[in-house]
Amino acid sequence: MHDLGFLARVKDVDGEKKRGFDIYVGGGLGTVPHQAKVLAEFVPEEEILPISQAVARVFARLGEKQNRNRARLKFLIAKLGIDEFRRLVAEERAILPHDDRWAGYVDDYLPNYEEVALKTAVSLNGISLPEGYADWFKTNVYQQRQDGYFVVTVNLPLGDLTSTQAFQLADIASKYVGDNLRTTVEQNIVLRWVSEADLPNVYNELKGVGLGDGGAGTIVDITSCPGTDTCKLGIAASRGLAGELRTRLAARSATMPDAIKDLKIKISGCFNSCGQHHVADIGFFGNSRRRNNRTVPHFQVVLGGKWRENAGSFGLAMGVVPSKKVPDVLDAITERYVAERERGENFQDWVTRLGKRDVKKLVTAFTDVPIYEEQPSFYSDWGDPREFSIGDMGIGECAGEVVTLFSIEIARAEGVAFDALLALDDKDYALADERAYRAMVLAARSLVRNQFLDVGDDPDQIVSEFRTRYFDTQLFFDRYAKGKFARYLFNRHENPNPNPTEDSAHQLIEEANLFIEAAHACDARLAGALAGGVTL
Ligand code: HEM
Ligand code: SF4
Repeated sequence: MHDLGFLARVKDVDGEKKRGFDIYVGGGLGTVPHQAKVLAEFVPEEEILPISQAVARVFARLGEKQNRNRARLKFLIAKLGIDEFRRLVAEERAILPHDDRWAGYVDDYLPNYEEVALKTAVSLNGISLPEGYADWFKTNVYQQRQDGYFVVTVNLPLGDLTSTQAFQLADIASKYVGDNLRTTVEQNIVLRWVSEADLPNVYNELKGVGLGDGGAGTIVDITSCPGTDTCKLGIAASRGLAGELRTRLAARSATMPDAIKDLKIKISGCFNSCGQHHVADIGFFGNSRRRNNRTVPHFQVVLGGKWRENAGSFGLAMGVVPSKKVPDVLDAITERYVAERERGENFQDWVTRLGKRDVKKLVTAFTDVPIYEEQPSFYSDWGDPREFSIGDMGIGECAGEVVTLFSIEIARAEGVAFDALLALDDKDYALADERAYRAMVLAARSLVRNQFLDVGDDPDQIVSEFRTRYFDTQLFFDRYAKGKFARYLFNRHENPNPNPTEDSAHQLIEEANLFIEAAHACDARLAGALAGGVTL
């Protein structure tokens, strides 16, 4: 999932063991994730710097310069195709002037690189173990390849530690492992080179400063981006939700079935993926919906992503639920998995076996939002008591609920986007591509009809009306992403893909879902400014 990725390998070359790497390129999460592609298998270690330089040169020459949102290697490779990109990199590599430093690190740096443990490895030797140690050991400690040494994970709820704890942790590290702490992508810190005999004391000392939580790498160890707490792009309170889920799951951890203990949950506050929700078993990303004249924080449920195998597959959005319903959705999904899984079946395989239709049903059971007067709590987020209303529409004299024409029309678009997912499941990529496109056209039509009721069904007319009414006027523009989502529609409308692949169809479906979300947001913004809608 990175622009450039290297996977270490050892290979027999003419009877000699040679070190090298498989090189991957063009991965990335962000709004529309791209799976990295293999650029070259087994590249000897002295070749990885020049190849990387050649990749960077090709990108510098041909990469996007105008539109910052597309200035990533992943977009260039998707545009050129991996074969053409590989050819260009080989061409560039062939003309690179030689540089001694390419191989210098192999000859000079690596042989002299050494990590020295602070303490000699001593085994436990029957030391009595403190209370809680056994559980903590199971999840937070693993053995190094060097005998007698262990890696300890300091589990930081939401990745937080106070400045006092930071000083205390530094003291603990200096005492047991020296001056090296390592941060992890799962928002924890690891201490390496802990001698086995020190483990009970390390545990006691960490516990003494409030850093002795177990459960590292398990379902309670949720990753979350800053979300609305501090990020100006945040749409929903990812940290608030992560905290709430952690508290609830931790309270049940003693009785939790083993099957779900190791599931990964990752949460982003918006579509940008900073919380890496695509590569979790169960991911969530924030968005919002309008109910009458109020904004209701919501999260998209993303299922089936893989953390293992270097983020081996990305999950797909399965439906949007109100933020306050996320704990219930999580319970429903995990309970059903525990009840129905076959022996040894992992979560991704179970999701695939259940099928998108049933998964969708499971999620949509939680989509209803009660009206504000019944349950105002739905209108604020976890850990964030603020309520948002859309402008000052005021409540009508009629007590009935306002159902807008937009909400009926956009529901059709959502239905077609879901049908695109089913086609993807059936490996009918052309149909998936066509449906994802149609979903975007329908979503554009939903907005156009707010202004021009009689727009027909012709995609050319819809796209052209949408362009003049919503794009040229910037009404559709997201405050930060600007016209990014509209370009998904224009691009597919103007450049239909003659040979959709699994990757391209998957991406277009993601784009369609984001376009639909942007249409919801646009409608909500305009409703704030206009007081619109029809009462049914
Ligand atoms: C103020 C806070 C932040 C802002 C405004 C922000 C903004 C963004 C944006 C706009 C993207 C999308 C880039 C794209 O589409 O290619 C992105 C991606 C990402 N961000 Fe952040 N971010 C913030 C904090 C964080 C934090 C705290 C982390 C994790 C420690 C993080 C990790 C990531 C990751 C992993 C991606 C995906 C990159 C990829 O693979 O394409 N971000 N961020
Ligand atoms: S995912 Fe969105 S809310 Fe979260 S840090 Fe990134 S840009 Fe901000």
